[in-house]
Amino acid sequence: MEKNIIYNEDCLNALSKIPDNSIDCIVTDPPYGTKTTFRDGWMVGERSNVMPLVLPELFRVLKDDGAFYCFTSFSKMSEWLLRFEQYFKLHNIIIWDKQRHSGCYSSNAWQYTWEGIFFGTKNSRKVREYMPDVIRSTQKGKKKAMEKPVDILQQLIKASTDKGMIVLDPFMGTGSTIEACITTERNYIGIEINKDFYKGVENRIEMLKSQTKLF
Ligand SMILES: C[S@@+](CC[C@H](N)C(=O)[O-])C[C@H]1O[C@@H](n2cnc3c(N)ncnc32)[C@H](O)[C@@H]1O
Repeated sequence: MEKNIIYNEDCLNALSKIPDNSIDCIVTDPPYGTKTTFRDGWMVGERSNVMPLVLPELFRVLKDDGAFYCFTSFSKMSEWLLRFEQYFKLHNIIIWDKQRHSGCYSSNAWQYTWEGIFFGTKNSRKVREYMPDVIRSTQKGKKKAMEKPVDILQQLIKASTDKGMIVLDPFMGTGSTIEACITTERNYIGIEINKDFYKGVENRIEMLKSQTKLF
């Protein structure tokens, strides 16, 4: 199986090229089940829900002792939890404390300042460090609304993999997971349907490689 590769296609196509039980860890932030179009890189509108189709494929490619981290949104959490637990053993809902509001205001609700991350396994895998289930990071410096902080992704990856293991992100967006893999010396497989985002990830990888050569 090829590693350190990114695909520009529907993840259901790309996942069909990945063998059974071959991935050490999945770290992903799926589209939130609303139909989505992109305006200046910001998600708006609605997209049909891909989770019911993608979860059996993620279960198939993950190693028996593999780990799965899945970002969620408040609006999708209950539905996704039921779907997630159809396939994976849920060990935690890790809370990412953003330490400030997300920018989405509602006069009917408290301000949204956290995100939940499901942590599950296929069978069992020990976490490598004794980790608290609340992690903190602001989103300082991010360029797109959907972009996840690399330091959070690095923590998740380090908790469940060793150097050289393979991490998959089937919805890589701006490529934050790929950067977290490169900077922690893990191998990666990334998939993104949107051509512009895919090209952005290609550039991001090139930039990281040239920075690595400098040091
Ligand atoms: C929430 S965003 C991920 C953001 C990412 N975590 C980051 O830090 O930039 C979800 C991504 O999934 C992509 N996507 C949606 N449906 C897809 C599909 N069927 N196959 C592959 N990518 C898809 C969207 O284009 C979007 O970039």
